Amino acid sequence: MKTVTFKDKTFRVSISEAELLKAVDNVAEKMNADLEGKNPLFLIVLNGAFMFASDLLKRVEIPAQLSFVKVASYSGTASTGRVTELIGLNEEVKGRTIVIIEDIVDSGRTMYGMVEKLKSLGADDIRIATLFFKPEALKYDLNIDYAAMNIPNDFIVGYGLDYDGYGRNLRDIYTLINS
Ligand code: IMP
Ligand code: MG
Repeated sequence: MKTVTFKDKTFRVSISEAELLKAVDNVAEKMNADLEGKNPLFLIVLNGAFMFASDLLKRVEIPAQLSFVKVASYSGTASTGRVTELIGLNEEVKGRTIVIIEDIVDSGRTMYGMVEKLKSLGADDIRIATLFFKPEALKYDLNIDYAAMNIPNDFIVGYGLDYDGYGRNLRDIYTLINS
Protein backbone atom coordinates (compact mmCIF):
# COMPACT_ATOMS: atom_id res chain seq x y z
CA MET A 1 0.00 0.00 0.00
CA LYS A 2 1.43 3.35 -1.09
CA THR A 3 1.78 5.81 1.79
CA VAL A 4 3.33 9.25 2.34
CA THR A 5 4.39 10.88 5.61
CA PHE A 6 4.54 14.62 6.23
CA LYS A 7 5.71 15.74 9.66
CA ASP A 8 3.61 13.77 12.18
CA LYS A 9 0.99 12.39 9.80
CA THR A 10 0.81 9.43 7.44
CA PHE A 11 -1.54 9.20 4.48
CA ARG A 12 -2.58 6.27 2.32
CA VAL A 13 -3.32 6.50 -1.42
CA SER A 14 -7.09 6.58 -1.94
CA ILE A 15 -7.97 8.09 -5.34
CA SER A 16 -5.84 7.59 -8.44
CA GLU A 17 -4.93 10.26 -10.94
CA ALA A 18 -6.92 8.36 -13.60
CA GLU A 19 -10.09 8.48 -11.47
CA LEU A 20 -9.57 12.19 -10.80
CA LEU A 21 -9.13 12.98 -14.48
CA LYS A 22 -12.28 11.07 -15.36
CA ALA A 23 -14.25 13.14 -12.83
CA VAL A 24 -12.65 16.34 -14.13
CA ASP A 25 -13.62 15.37 -17.69
CA ASN A 26 -17.26 15.02 -16.63
CA VAL A 27 -17.30 18.49 -15.08
CA ALA A 28 -15.72 20.02 -18.20
CA GLU A 29 -18.30 18.35 -20.42
CA LYS A 30 -21.12 19.75 -18.27
CA MET A 31 -19.57 23.22 -18.34
CA ASN A 32 -19.15 23.19 -22.12
CA ALA A 33 -22.89 22.53 -22.41
CA ASP A 34 -24.09 24.86 -19.60
CA LEU A 35 -21.90 27.91 -20.13
CA GLU A 36 -22.06 28.28 -23.90
CA GLY A 37 -22.75 31.93 -24.79
CA LYS A 38 -22.42 33.11 -21.16
CA ASN A 39 -18.92 34.61 -21.42
CA PRO A 40 -17.98 33.36 -17.91
CA LEU A 41 -15.19 34.60 -15.70
CA PHE A 42 -13.54 31.68 -13.91
CA LEU A 43 -12.15 32.64 -10.50
CA ILE A 44 -9.51 30.12 -9.45
CA VAL A 45 -8.99 30.00 -5.69
CA LEU A 46 -5.32 29.71 -4.79
CA ASN A 47 -3.42 27.78 -3.66
CA GLY A 48 -5.39 24.52 -3.52
CA ALA A 49 -7.26 24.69 -6.84
CA PHE A 50 -4.25 25.17 -9.10
CA MET A 51 -3.97 21.57 -10.36
CA PHE A 52 -7.73 21.03 -10.70
CA ALA A 53 -8.05 24.35 -12.57
CA SER A 54 -5.23 23.42 -14.94
CA ASP A 55 -6.71 20.04 -15.93
CA LEU A 56 -10.32 21.30 -15.96
CA LEU A 57 -9.83 24.47 -17.95
CA LYS A 58 -7.75 22.73 -20.64
CA ARG A 59 -10.95 20.81 -21.36
CA VAL A 60 -13.28 23.84 -21.36
CA GLU A 61 -13.75 24.94 -24.94
CA ILE A 62 -16.10 27.94 -24.69
CA PRO A 63 -14.71 31.52 -24.67
CA ALA A 64 -13.95 32.45 -21.05
CA GLN A 65 -11.66 34.62 -18.95
CA LEU A 66 -9.59 33.29 -16.06
CA SER A 67 -8.38 35.05 -12.95
CA PHE A 68 -6.57 33.81 -9.84
CA VAL A 69 -7.64 34.96 -6.38
CA LYS A 70 -6.84 34.37 -2.76
CA VAL A 71 -9.59 34.40 -0.17
CA ALA A 72 -9.04 36.18 3.14
CA SER A 73 -11.69 36.00 5.84
CA TYR A 74 -11.72 38.02 9.06
CA SER A 75 -14.19 39.24 11.71
CA GLY A 76 -15.71 42.61 10.85
CA THR A 77 -17.89 44.74 13.13
CA ALA A 78 -20.92 43.38 14.97
CA SER A 79 -23.14 44.42 12.05
CA THR A 80 -20.92 43.13 9.26
CA GLY A 81 -20.03 39.79 10.87
CA ARG A 82 -17.38 37.91 8.95
CA VAL A 83 -15.89 39.76 6.01
CA THR A 84 -14.42 38.06 2.97
CA GLU A 85 -11.81 39.78 0.83
CA LEU A 86 -10.81 38.59 -2.63
CA ILE A 87 -7.14 39.35 -3.11
CA GLY A 88 -6.09 39.73 -6.73
CA LEU A 89 -9.54 40.29 -8.22
CA ASN A 90 -9.01 43.05 -10.79
CA GLU A 91 -11.84 42.19 -13.19
CA GLU A 92 -15.29 43.77 -13.20
CA VAL A 93 -17.79 41.13 -12.00
CA LYS A 94 -20.95 43.25 -12.21
CA GLY A 95 -23.58 41.56 -14.36
CA ARG A 96 -21.35 38.61 -15.20
CA THR A 97 -21.49 34.84 -14.90
CA ILE A 98 -18.82 33.87 -12.37
CA VAL A 99 -17.61 30.31 -11.91
CA ILE A 100 -15.57 29.75 -8.76
CA ILE A 101 -12.97 26.98 -9.04
CA GLU A 102 -12.21 25.57 -5.58
CA ASP A 103 -10.29 22.52 -4.35
CA ILE A 104 -12.64 21.30 -1.63
CA VAL A 105 -15.82 22.36 0.14
CA ASP A 106 -15.77 21.23 3.76
CA SER A 107 -17.94 23.31 6.17
CA GLY A 108 -18.70 25.63 3.25
CA ARG A 109 -17.65 28.76 5.13
CA THR A 110 -15.04 29.86 2.57
CA MET A 111 -17.41 29.47 -0.38
CA TYR A 112 -20.34 31.06 1.46
CA GLY A 113 -18.22 34.14 2.19
CA MET A 114 -16.97 34.31 -1.39
CA VAL A 115 -20.48 34.04 -2.85
CA GLU A 116 -21.74 36.81 -0.55
CA LYS A 117 -18.81 39.01 -1.58
CA LEU A 118 -19.43 38.43 -5.30
CA LYS A 119 -23.15 39.16 -4.82
CA SER A 120 -22.27 42.45 -3.13
CA LEU A 121 -20.10 43.30 -6.15
CA GLY A 122 -23.10 42.77 -8.44
CA ALA A 123 -22.27 39.42 -10.07
CA ASP A 124 -25.30 38.15 -11.94
CA ASP A 125 -24.88 34.37 -11.84
CA ILE A 126 -22.44 32.78 -9.37
CA ARG A 127 -21.59 29.10 -9.67
CA ILE A 128 -19.31 26.89 -7.60
CA ALA A 129 -17.13 24.19 -9.14
CA THR A 130 -15.24 22.12 -6.62
CA LEU A 131 -13.00 19.13 -7.09
CA PHE A 132 -14.14 17.59 -3.79
CA PHE A 133 -17.28 18.03 -1.74
CA LYS A 134 -17.76 16.60 1.77
CA PRO A 135 -21.58 16.58 2.06
CA GLU A 136 -21.48 15.37 5.68
CA ALA A 137 -19.36 18.35 6.76
CA LEU A 138 -21.47 21.10 5.14
CA LYS A 139 -22.76 23.71 7.61
CA TYR A 140 -23.68 26.62 5.31
CA ASP A 141 -26.53 27.10 2.89
CA LEU A 142 -24.68 26.60 -0.38
CA ASN A 143 -25.56 25.38 -3.81
CA ILE A 144 -22.71 23.38 -5.35
CA ASP A 145 -23.21 23.49 -9.10
CA TYR A 146 -20.31 21.26 -10.11
CA ALA A 147 -18.73 18.77 -7.69
CA ALA A 148 -16.26 16.47 -9.42
CA MET A 149 -16.35 13.99 -6.50
CA ASN A 150 -18.25 13.61 -3.25
CA ILE A 151 -16.04 12.20 -0.50
CA PRO A 152 -16.48 11.14 3.14
CA ASN A 153 -15.52 13.46 5.97
CA ASP A 154 -11.80 12.51 5.98
CA PHE A 155 -8.70 14.67 5.62
CA ILE A 156 -6.96 14.31 2.27
CA VAL A 157 -3.86 15.62 0.49
CA GLY A 158 -2.59 15.60 -3.08
CA TYR A 159 -3.50 17.10 -6.45
CA GLY A 160 -3.31 20.63 -5.02
CA LEU A 161 -4.52 19.90 -1.49
CA ASP A 162 -2.05 20.19 1.37
CA TYR A 163 -1.20 19.40 4.93
CA ASP A 164 0.75 22.38 6.25
CA GLY A 165 2.01 23.10 2.74
CA TYR A 166 3.01 19.50 1.98
CA GLY A 167 1.45 17.15 -0.53
CA ARG A 168 0.16 19.62 -3.10
CA ASN A 169 2.37 18.20 -5.85
CA LEU A 170 1.19 14.58 -5.49
CA ARG A 171 -0.62 13.32 -8.60
CA ASP A 172 -2.95 11.00 -6.63
CA ILE A 173 -5.08 11.65 -3.53
CA TYR A 174 -4.01 10.32 -0.13
CA THR A 175 -6.22 9.98 2.95
CA LEU A 176 -5.03 10.50 6.52
CA ILE A 177 -4.59 7.25 8.40
CA ASN A 178 -6.22 7.55 11.80
CA SER A 179 -3.99 5.97 14.40
P1 IMP B 1 -14.46 25.25 4.44
O1 IMP B 1 -14.40 26.76 4.42
O2 IMP B 1 -14.71 24.69 5.80
O3 IMP B 1 -15.40 24.69 3.40
O4 IMP B 1 -13.02 24.72 4.13
C1 IMP B 1 -12.48 24.79 2.90
C2 IMP B 1 -10.98 24.90 2.95
O5 IMP B 1 -10.38 24.10 4.01
C3 IMP B 1 -10.46 24.35 1.67
O6 IMP B 1 -10.37 25.37 0.69
C4 IMP B 1 -9.15 23.74 2.04
O7 IMP B 1 -8.14 24.72 1.94
C5 IMP B 1 -9.32 23.33 3.49
N1 IMP B 1 -9.65 21.88 3.62
C6 IMP B 1 -10.82 21.34 3.98
N2 IMP B 1 -10.78 20.00 3.98
C7 IMP B 1 -9.52 19.67 3.59
C8 IMP B 1 -8.84 18.40 3.39
O8 IMP B 1 -9.38 17.29 3.56
N3 IMP B 1 -7.54 18.49 2.98
C9 IMP B 1 -6.90 19.67 2.75
N4 IMP B 1 -7.50 20.85 2.93
C10 IMP B 1 -8.80 20.87 3.35
MG1 MG C 1 -9.01 26.22 -0.56
